[in-house]
Amino acid sequence: MEEELIGIKNSALSLILESTDLKDLEETKLQFLGKSGKLTLTIKEITTVPIEKRKEIGILANDVKQTIEQAIADQFEMLSKKKKTTLIEKIDVTNPGIKPEIGHLHLVTQAIEEITDIFEKIGFERVRYPEVEWDYYAFTALNFPQNHPARDEWETFFVKSQENPKKGKMILTPHTSSGQIREMERKGPPIRMLNIAKCYRRQSDVSHTPMFHQFEGLVIDKDISITHLKGTLEYFVKSYFGKNRKSRIRPYHFQFTEPSFEVDVSCGVCNGEGRLLDGSKCKLCKSGWLEMGGAGMVHPNVLKSGGIDPNKFTGFAFGWGVERVLMMREGLEIDDLRLLYSNDLRFLEQF
Ligand code: PHE
Repeated sequence: MEEELIGIKNSALSLILESTDLKDLEETKLQFLGKSGKLTLTIKEITTVPIEKRKEIGILANDVKQTIEQAIADQFEMLSKKKKTTLIEKIDVTNPGIKPEIGHLHLVTQAIEEITDIFEKIGFERVRYPEVEWDYYAFTALNFPQNHPARDEWETFFVKSQENPKKGKMILTPHTSSGQIREMERKGPPIRMLNIAKCYRRQSDVSHTPMFHQFEGLVIDKDISITHLKGTLEYFVKSYFGKNRKSRIRPYHFQFTEPSFEVDVSCGVCNGEGRLLDGSKCKLCKSGWLEMGGAGMVHPNVLKSGGIDPNKFTGFAFGWGVERVLMMREGLEIDDLRLLYSNDLRFLEQF
């Protein structure tokens, strides 16, 4: 009897859901709940069930009945609504349409495209090199002696894999400078390379994300000097940040450039003054200048690693952060840089 009741419930429910009009539904209702309906007849037979099981079966039968009644009521409502709307619904062609939502590129992608355009105008060629690199390209060929502590400054991620006998450990590219040697190997001088790529370092706090982007410039030709570097820097600063922004270079140290510089851009919030009009200190820059990144003249040892004769050719290189220049241009003081990559639409839709 138990099985029979459950079988009735299942077949009733599927017929109810399948019914496509009210007439259909009425017939199904009769078939199960009518005077000689399947459920009605089965319930009558409960009197034949042994007394000790009767209560349990009674409860089940009741439950089956309620479920079927409820399903019929729901389906009834659904079908009658449908009937109404098909009767009433008319299309008013004069109504304004619903505008589909339009997305946009991520702000970092927008910056990458702009930077590419700026450099392509003066003959740079955008290239891409592996995100998973050999130590050789990121460090050794860039004039880092084996086990030199300067490697630590790049907080590198190592990949668990076999070492390459010639190129050493496998790593995640910690800076776009690894593209320098690859470009020299690929093409040789003259070179005007723009390598924009994801970089990875073991860092995560309000002003650092473990993955970020750099854009690296490399120019190698005969008689390239610091003035070319300064001119290119100035051109980029004016094109990307605006005509009234200034740039400056300060002495610094990198293994792969000599001399090396740190590059600054005048602050857009206080106009390079370090102070706002009311005399208070500028919160974004503190001194009137914002640090953009490193640059320098390519070290002769690096040219040699790339198979280029340093007596015939010279070059300059720079490597700047995409997220960094973006923040500097907008005068944005984002409390937490990790917001850029947290996929929060409330943030992303503002750009
Ligand atoms: N690769 C350096 C960094 O990540 C920047 C740099 C690039 C410096 C090219 C000099 C020349 O900090």
